[in-house]
Amino acid sequence: MIISKSPAEIEKMRKAGNGVAEALELAREKICPGLTTIELDKAIENLIINSGSRPAFKGYRGYPASICASVNDEVVHCIPSERSLKSGDIISIDIGVELDGYFGDAAKTFAVGDINDEAKELISITEKSLQAGISMAKVGNRLSDISHEVQVTAEEAGYTVVRDYVGHGIGNEMHEDPQIPNFGPPGNGPVLKEGMVFALEPMVNVGDYEVKVRSDEWTVVTADGSLSAHFEHTIALTKDGPMILTKG
Ligand code: MF3
Ligand code: CO
Repeated sequence: MIISKSPAEIEKMRKAGNGVAEALELAREKICPGLTTIELDKAIENLIINSGSRPAFKGYRGYPASICASVNDEVVHCIPSERSLKSGDIISIDIGVELDGYFGDAAKTFAVGDINDEAKELISITEKSLQAGISMAKVGNRLSDISHEVQVTAEEAGYTVVRDYVGHGIGNEMHEDPQIPNFGPPGNGPVLKEGMVFALEPMVNVGDYEVKVRSDEWTVVTADGSLSAHFEHTIALTKDGPMILTKG
């Protein structure tokens, strides 16, 4: 069941989403060659806690950290570690915040130092595919209109979209109905209504869309070792169109 939110609830979700946006901004400022992902995790955790919010990932199904920090062929859900970043890496940072009982969830992929043109292009197309999906999140459209637009945008550029992980509804829980695939034909699924709130999160690969999970049982990597990028926003459907809640 898709739970629609009132304007007052959406306002609370905007506050939670704003916390996520600020945390991603801190990630942008701090990411550089030599930084370890556990240092970044601590800095972001402190920011979230000091602002009176809760890092929503910590303890979620036993997840041990406040952010996911996935490098190069790591797609999502990589646990921060002593690994230090090096110039040429790309890193996807995913952050969830709970404030006053409501959740915000967003992710961005960043360049570490100087990255090659292929990596730049992948990042830019992944962000573009998220924006294309958001543009279809309009009252009266069908859910899979979003999915289709994400897929077409990524595939027209020669990339693939991950099948095994999807976007989701969000509200008083981090993951609510519906599941939102980043692929598929348009015109299917529930009709979109005012007050629905979604976390849209395309994961886009340079190579094949197949992924596998490492033996740590968290880290999702591309099966062929190719680069992957991830962008996510929490958005609300209003009568005036989609409103991004994790913008800052
Ligand atoms: N943003 C992720 C998602 O929606 C949540 C990460 S789950 C965690 O799937 F356990 F890694 F925190
Ligand atoms: Co999410």
